[in-house]
Amino acid sequence: MITVQGNYFKIDTKKSTYLFKVNPLGILEHIYYGKAIPNEKDYSFLEEGEGCGYGVMMKNDRYLAYLDHLSQECSFKGRGDTRELLLQIDCSGDLECEFLYEGHEILHDFEIPGLPNANHKEETLAIYLKDKAKKLTLCLYYSTYPGTDVITRSSSLKNDSGKKIRINRLLSSQIDFDEDEFILKTFGGTWAKESVLQKRTLQHGVTKIGSNNGHSSCIHSPFVVLEKPDCSLTSGGCYGFNLIYSGNHAGYFERNNLHKVRFLNGINDDSFSWDLSDGESFFAPEATLCYSSEGERELTHQYHRFVREHIVRGEWQYKDHPVLINDWEALTFNFTEEKLVALARRGKELGCELFVLDDGWFGKRNSDNTSLGDWHANLAKLPNGIGSLADKIHEMGLLFGLWFEPEMVSRDSDLYRAHPEFALTHKDYEPLESRNQLVLDLANPVVVDYLIENVGNAIAEAKCDYVKWDCNRVISDYLSPSTLNQGETLHRYALGLYRFLGAIMKRFPHVLFESCAAGGERVDLGMLCYMPSFWASDDTEPFEREKIQESLLMCYPQSCIGAHVSASPNHQTLRESQIEDRFNVACIGAFGYELDPNELSDVDTKSMCEQIAWYKQNRHLLAFGDYYKISSIVEDCRGQFVIVSPDQKEAIYFVGNKTFELYSPQAFLKPVHLDPDAVYEVEERQQNFDFYQVHGRVKNDKRTLTGPDWQEKLKDVECLKSEKQVASALGASLMNAGMRLDYEWGSGRLPKRLMLDYSTRIYKIKKK
Ligand code: DGJ
Repeated sequence: MITVQGNYFKIDTKKSTYLFKVNPLGILEHIYYGKAIPNEKDYSFLEEGEGCGYGVMMKNDRYLAYLDHLSQECSFKGRGDTRELLLQIDCSGDLECEFLYEGHEILHDFEIPGLPNANHKEETLAIYLKDKAKKLTLCLYYSTYPGTDVITRSSSLKNDSGKKIRINRLLSSQIDFDEDEFILKTFGGTWAKESVLQKRTLQHGVTKIGSNNGHSSCIHSPFVVLEKPDCSLTSGGCYGFNLIYSGNHAGYFERNNLHKVRFLNGINDDSFSWDLSDGESFFAPEATLCYSSEGERELTHQYHRFVREHIVRGEWQYKDHPVLINDWEALTFNFTEEKLVALARRGKELGCELFVLDDGWFGKRNSDNTSLGDWHANLAKLPNGIGSLADKIHEMGLLFGLWFEPEMVSRDSDLYRAHPEFALTHKDYEPLESRNQLVLDLANPVVVDYLIENVGNAIAEAKCDYVKWDCNRVISDYLSPSTLNQGETLHRYALGLYRFLGAIMKRFPHVLFESCAAGGERVDLGMLCYMPSFWASDDTEPFEREKIQESLLMCYPQSCIGAHVSASPNHQTLRESQIEDRFNVACIGAFGYELDPNELSDVDTKSMCEQIAWYKQNRHLLAFGDYYKISSIVEDCRGQFVIVSPDQKEAIYFVGNKTFELYSPQAFLKPVHLDPDAVYEVEERQQNFDFYQVHGRVKNDKRTLTGPDWQEKLKDVECLKSEKQVASALGASLMNAGMRLDYEWGSGRLPKRLMLDYSTRIYKIKKK
């Protein structure tokens, strides 16, 4: 809810309040962002007051302010504010400006043109600030959304000066905090090791988190968390910030000596500038802000609601994803139609619902050095064409999915030979290749028009039910002939990508799209406005994946996170793992298999079959239930979380151990958000163990999980069933005391649970 009261602007969500005012100079003074407060007649009890600070002063006959100190809603160069700024412009060499309040409006269907927007807004407050001397209008937008504490901010600049000006920076959001003790949590990484939690005390000076390679990037994710030092999972204050944008982003955190912290985020200006002609406007992407006074868990809960309700859209928003089987890790480029059909058939027999043909099906592609851009079947491998393969897959009763990398081109391709000018290159230098490919110039509308037609027709011809939209390299050489100013290219690329995606989504509303960028290189809210999920990482080894997913889950709901069971040993880590652990970690995401089921042992085949059956019964809860972290696989002795249905009738509880330790602390299942007065049944999902894989040389040791009748049990045994602990208790007992899980192997007592390195378990909790 947005309340305008005199010169105060108050934005309330259920649990938070954002408050600012126009001061007598016309400057927007930030007053408060935190736990919800009621409406008051005036807020002078909370205001900073006139004249705090040092340095140069801005004054009129009614008021005096030092902008180097004052908490503000937006900042610009020239009026004394020496901190990092929201806006930097260049008007023929003149960098100074002065934006003062001019008016405001409440808008009901505000959308930023050309960029993805959070939808179903409640209302938007637009504040207009004018630089009268330069005839420029800066507008700040604040939007609220039903059912979530997340609000969004954005900004735009309109030029009525009669001449061209250059924007060197226009960020989306600014918050000046009147306190300076914060812990900053960010998520960084690289290919196959995305989303590593980085935690630090915010130091004096400027900390910048951003990307510079043309994508939102996994090096530094745009999602960041700023916590009060006493913040924990369940108590204390924290702020979460993200950006609805897929290009270069930046978040600035400036802590100064006056006990203030300024936060800013938006398009990274390192490689950005924008020429704005007379009469034109420039819009910054939407930034998301959320405050929780109840710790991180509530922050996550609010973000999940926001992403599910206001970011993900279309037919697949709340639809269960089919169980997929993808051929990539099984066959890579080495397949024939026969092999694919055999793989799909076996997948179907075991319960899969969607077959995905990954890279290598087009042009002359047998390795990664050719054919990107030639989206027609590789007839050497698929002599009957892609439509015929799609028919065969459909006849089996499976959906058909295909991999594309639409933004790229190989130099060895018909597309490049016909249109070398479609690739981003620099006129003075040899273009830089990565994975033997160049990036198409999506800053150029002609290229985007071509792709909309060409890629669209290829998707139609292949009768796709699913498309994996990959993007395997970062952007370099970005001197697009379509713009005179190189600083515009990467943002124009993002705008071109969004136009491309918008047109494809409109043409194929029923197709399920999944975003991928060499794993998790482009995980952001912008892509999720078009595609309901992203491939989180090429690392599918369960322990590594558990950590990656725990970080991602801080902001993104389960349904958005693509997660597969792959073969063991894992392709990236070479670590061996049990198929049941791989399943337990993958099943909470957009789920599937990425292995050849024909190569599985009998025990693993049996497991896969049982897993799929169990998954189908629970997939809606797994993907769309409310996720609550209980403990962290990164920071605590074991990772645990619970996913609860909104009606509290059922829940799934996950436990994941770290490396095996003798006498490790006993585990308790201790869910949250159940109905305290209802009786629940807890039932462990029973797992299979391949006897020889687990027991190996210790098979004559009677202390193993086989129990007192071990000799009898070991006769000709190959598949051992794990324990299947069950219990029944009131929600209050489970939440307050917890359910004691059976002792683990190596705990000195009669062990009942075999928990090896990185072992996991899943429990179903159901109201009686
Ligand atoms: C990178 C993706 O992350 C993989 O899953 C796979 O699709 C390869 N690209 C194919 O080239």
